[in-house]
Amino acid sequence: MHAPVESYHATRFLKGTRIPTLMFGESSEASRHVALMIESLIRQNNSAGKPTVLGLATGSTPIGLYRELIRLHREENLDFSRVITFNLDEYYPMPPDDEHSYHLWMKAHFFDHVNLHPKNIHIPSGTIPPDQIEDHAAQFEEKIRRAGGIDFQILGIGRTGHIGFNEPGSTRQSRTRLVSLDPVTRRDAASGFFGIENVPQQALTMGVGTILEARQIVIMAFGEHKADIVQKTIEHEPTDAITASFLQQHPDATFIVDAAAGSKLAAVRTPWKLGPVQWTPALIRRAVLWLSFAAEKPLLLLSDDDFREHELYSLLREHGPASKLARKVFDEMSNTICTRPCGQEPKTVLVFSPHPDDDVISMGGTIIHLVEQGHRVHIAYMTSGNIAVFDHDALRFKDFVAEFNERFGIDPVKTKEVTDRITRALEVKKPGSRDEEDVLHVKGLIRATEARAAALSVGIPPGQLEFMDMPFYRTGTIAKAPIGPEDVRITQELIARLQPAQVYMAGDLSDPHGTHRVCADAVFKALALLAKEGFKTEAWLYRGAWEEWEPHEVERVVPINPDEMERKKLAIFKHQSQKDRAMFPGGYDDREFWQRAEERNRHTAQLYDQLGLPQFYALEGFVQWRGV
Ligand code: F6R
Repeated sequence: MHAPVESYHATRFLKGTRIPTLMFGESSEASRHVALMIESLIRQNNSAGKPTVLGLATGSTPIGLYRELIRLHREENLDFSRVITFNLDEYYPMPPDDEHSYHLWMKAHFFDHVNLHPKNIHIPSGTIPPDQIEDHAAQFEEKIRRAGGIDFQILGIGRTGHIGFNEPGSTRQSRTRLVSLDPVTRRDAASGFFGIENVPQQALTMGVGTILEARQIVIMAFGEHKADIVQKTIEHEPTDAITASFLQQHPDATFIVDAAAGSKLAAVRTPWKLGPVQWTPALIRRAVLWLSFAAEKPLLLLSDDDFREHELYSLLREHGPASKLARKVFDEMSNTICTRPCGQEPKTVLVFSPHPDDDVISMGGTIIHLVEQGHRVHIAYMTSGNIAVFDHDALRFKDFVAEFNERFGIDPVKTKEVTDRITRALEVKKPGSRDEEDVLHVKGLIRATEARAAALSVGIPPGQLEFMDMPFYRTGTIAKAPIGPEDVRITQELIARLQPAQVYMAGDLSDPHGTHRVCADAVFKALALLAKEGFKTEAWLYRGAWEEWEPHEVERVVPINPDEMERKKLAIFKHQSQKDRAMFPGGYDDREFWQRAEERNRHTAQLYDQLGLPQFYALEGFVQWRGV
């Protein structure tokens, strides 16, 4: 997904960082960059007949990198036969064939797809008896030494600032050992295990000292949820409270971030404080809005002295005076306010909703406006959302169907056969495992019926709903397949059939499992293909479930009054399986989805108020996608 207002290309290192940092607009570009670094190292060593020793990580971050390395192997003959690998960590206890093990994860995401020799693969063992752990750890380190040390270490960063599983408090000298996982780390891993109670308490990990001995280190972070920890790691003094900060002391460590993970860095937020900048319209807007908040003054009250006192001298000199700058940004922000988002004439609007609730969470108020203004609004639920339903809900609905069929005399034999099958599937299911197809169907139906009720409550009849059930999501686990041609084809056909004047889609980069990002990708690709055939539509990105657009990014806000907010909340409540306690609330926000939506929309309105713009109860924000 592109960065909406500004777009970054990592041609040079960011200023003001304690670890050399490259920022890319999108994680795919960043992954490709790292893959190319590894590719050139392997080719160089291969042609010298030397091995390449790689330190590998698991998790969501390196998935794109592994895909790119696999592509380089398949399409460009990148030869891994001389490559030796050492993985950072493994849960403990954890059998290698368990679906949650890093052993299996590495096979599925990388090892099974390249020509690595099994004897060259090393991962700490999750089955070693407790009294042999120390020896096992020492042998692991010895194997690294015997291989000549790690040439290139790949790292992700946890929200605790961990590298490997070196949680806060791990020393700079720590070596490979058994560690206890931080509660934040266990919470972040909870969705993969279908609940925190199934996440192991411990892991075996390379130590900070072990990692720092690698000759070259690349640490990657993608998504808004990493922005805080990235900023602390890169801009603060090294501390054992954030073990990644020890990378500041490594002679060849590089931080690679996407625009979302880098969004809190000073080089992005306040680049004018770090040296001369080119005052583009986007940067002017950003700086003037920043100043209004920093000086706690509405835009139109900003003075030349405010610019000077906040180190915005060059902006004042080049584009001032203050009154002119403030007026320009005030006008831009005023123009974002829109009460008729699809114009006067009735038109067809298509809202893509990655899961069956993102529509109402993120733009329920706007949907209410669009329907009331006479537009024909269609909602396309891109995935079934079936992995996010608790077993007890599936059992309750199975119970309902059994009673319903009995009461109305519907085929008792067949009913019993199916309900018994579902009961059995849930009884034999191991905690944290994927569901049988039957159960996934029941869970999908629960979410589809909730979506119908929610849509109806904002004025959209069932005939205007599409359940796309995109293939990439149909894995039954949180690990999704990459987007494929079939996903794009389904999306393209839908848009071609409905010919909407406007398309809305989720623009969050940080939903925990990346489903929003993949869904947006499918829509972008479909729109690009349709554009080639001459079809044009306006495309808008919403946020709300995980993040909100910031004022400098937002291009349109739709005012929501208290009554509309109540209706929006009632629509969100219709998604009962996600209410009170959602299966995947995201590791870093304790609020329910309706609370997040209400607080975010009201917060945007407060920000507009602080800027001296009209006062609103709540605002839903949008950014236009101009990719085509
Ligand atoms: C994985 C590992 C961890 C992860 C980190 C980020 O082998 O050692 O340090 O790199 O927890 O995880 P993701 O990439 O899932 O956000």
